[in-house]
Amino acid sequence: MFTATISPNQSSLSNSPQDLFSAITDLKKELNAVILAHYYQEGDIQDIADYIGDSLGLSQQAASTQADVILFAGVHFMAETAKILNPHKLVLLPDLEAGCSLADSCSADQFSKFKAQYPDHIVISYINCTAEIKALSDIICTSSNAVKIVKQIPKNQPIIFAPDKNLGRYVMEQTGRDMVLWDGSCIVHETFSEKKIVQLKVQHPQAEILAHPECETHILRHADYIGSTTALLKYALDSKSSEFIIATEPGIIHQMAKDAPKKLFIPAPPENNCACNECPYMRLNTLEKVYLALKNRTPEINLSESIRVKALKPIQKMLEMS
Ligand code: 13P
Ligand code: SF4
Repeated sequence: MFTATISPNQSSLSNSPQDLFSAITDLKKELNAVILAHYYQEGDIQDIADYIGDSLGLSQQAASTQADVILFAGVHFMAETAKILNPHKLVLLPDLEAGCSLADSCSADQFSKFKAQYPDHIVISYINCTAEIKALSDIICTSSNAVKIVKQIPKNQPIIFAPDKNLGRYVMEQTGRDMVLWDGSCIVHETFSEKKIVQLKVQHPQAEILAHPECETHILRHADYIGSTTALLKYALDSKSSEFIIATEPGIIHQMAKDAPKKLFIPAPPENNCACNECPYMRLNTLEKVYLALKNRTPEINLSESIRVKALKPIQKMLEMS
């Protein structure tokens, strides 16, 4: 539930979520803005969004939107991708600090040196990377199309896969391809406790375990189904089961519970008794910051045109191959 308050010098709004919802709706009309939100956003943000999706769906929406302004309720690499696709539009990110541990694990400098060791390899990069890494890549992929894209690459063509080693390993298993992996990972998907998941399964023997491919192999081997956030949501809705253990960021459960209110969705527990299965970057965005970003038309995403043009090519390639 929404708890933030608007300070008097920011707005004359009360702190009621209803006021914020209607103020955001008015601003959206005024600016011809669209709100694109990822499933890991807090529930209130998902509820005000025009489109909620996984990274592929969000990129496709960003590529086709007629809006003049894109408010991206997600993390920096997602808003940056929207800007790469829409250089003339205003792209807003409610909190510029909303980064990503995967993107942070792969600096352009280090990656260039890594890539130089494998001159005959092509580079397939997970969309969870900076524009600079995209500019050094041949094709971008997301968790929903990584297997499909790798399967389209000729067998004799060696591949570097960056930056997520867990997704890379999963793709290798699914395709039987050997790939050179960059050693990056997501802090959220590496937090799940195998022991606690197994204990939950004992308490809920009928529950299906749904996992995101960013999880480590020892978690994925317990999964009944592995997929992107959109794929996990669809699976949960279509399945005959009524109980699920969800091994990904628990923001997705907001949508699962909304669409299937009679089913039980249990978040997979982290190793420690912390809330570290919540992405600390995604959760920096709040409904209040969404309102302020639209009202003040900032924080805005900007990037150099030379990087943008280079980063666009592998994103377009992904959109063609998806
Ligand atoms: P998808 O929504 O594409 O499955 O990605 C999950 C994720 O970690 C985004 O940061
Ligand atoms: Fe990055 Fe992981 Fe957060 Fe997704 S959940 S934004 S991969 S840190």
